[in-house]
This record gives sequence, structure tokens and C-alpha cells, in this order.
Amino acid sequence: MHVDLGTPVNTALFLYILYSVQRIVFPSTSKPKTVPTEFKGGYSWKPKSHPPTVVFKTYTPKMLEPFNGEDGGRILLAINGTVFDVTAGRSFYGPNGMYGNFAGRDASRGMAKQSFDIEMITPSDQPLDKLDDLSSDEIENMKGWYEHFANKYIICGKLVNEA
Ligand code: HEM
Repeated sequence: MHVDLGTPVNTALFLYILYSVQRIVFPSTSKPKTVPTEFKGGYSWKPKSHPPTVVFKTYTPKMLEPFNGEDGGRILLAINGTVFDVTAGRSFYGPNGMYGNFAGRDASRGMAKQSFDIEMITPSDQPLDKLDDLSSDEIENMKGWYEHFANKYIICGKLVNEA
């Protein structure tokens, strides 16, 4: 195969390939001045601190309640005994969100009955909702929501009556 380096396009491409190859063979190891937000610079640097981790915990309704996002902090909610960190969905569950009633609460009944009315929420000083009056369709609906949340958010604990 004959490659004609004579044309300006081919010369430019050749120089670009040479440059790319030397970037691969001799990667830049200089330390970035600020912590990069992307991994463009490779892994030759160490972040200043470990990224935040989520610890699986056991929550009672009282312990869950403060995580309602009102202070701008984390937002948790529970479905069928599983606690999800829904902070990423602040527009849904934050103080002005359409589903703000679920924040810091057991959302099982509301998910089952497709309602975000306050009557769906068991007060946090009462025992957990046993959900035993729900129809099988409602239970299925709740499970559908559970799947949605499990695919989208991080499971960070379980909800129990007593810690
Ligand atoms: C007026 C009727 C309703 C409208 C217009 C509406 C609208 C929406 C919209 C636009 C989304 C966002 C979808 C997305 O971007 O993924 C959403 C998600 C959602 N809706 Fe509704 N909705 C309504 C009723 C309800 C009811 C009654 C419930 C009660 C359970 C509900 C629970 C949810 C939940 C849990 C999500 C998922 C949020 C998330 O992914 O974190 N919605 N809705």
C-alpha cells in the first residue's frame, strides 16, 4: 500500500497520530492543582479525600424522619421495609416537590394506592404500617414502585419498629 505523505491533509494526520502516540507512551503525570471533576487526567493523582460512602443502617420511623430534605440534606424514604436514598430526586421529594410527603417516611401505602396524600403516611410515633388490608393489585403496584426505586436509587437501610 502506498501512502502519500505529500498532501497537507496526510501530513497533518501523520503529525496528529505521532502526537497521540507520544501522549499514550509518555502520559502526563503532573499533579493537577485542583481536584479534577473528570478522569481525563488518568489515575496518576490521589483525591484529597475519600468520596462519600453510604453505610447500610437500620432505621426506626423516628430515625428516618429527619431525612426529609428540609435542611437541604439527604432525603430518605422507605418502601416495604427497605430504605432508599432518594437525595438525587430532590425535585420530587424535596420540600417543594410533588412527592414531598414521602420524604423521611414509609411511603409503602402511598406507592401501593398511587396516592401521595398525607393520610397515606403513618405518623412516625406509631408502629409500622402492616399493609395487611391492601389488595393484591395494590401490593403488586407497590412492588412495581420498589423495582423502579431499586433500579434508580441506592438502598441504604431497612426500616424496623425498634432499632
Ligand atoms: C397528577 C398526576 C400525576 C402527574 C402529572 C405525575 C407526573 C409525574 C412525572 C412527570 C414524573 C417524572 C417521571 C420521570 O421523569 O422519571 C413522575 C414520577 C413519579 N411519580 Fe408521578 N405524577 C402523578 C401522580 C402520581 C401519584 C398519585 C403518585 C403516587 C404514588 C406518583 C408517584 C410518582 C413517583 C414515586 C415518581 C418517581 C419519582 C422518582 O423516580 O424518584 N405520581 N410523576
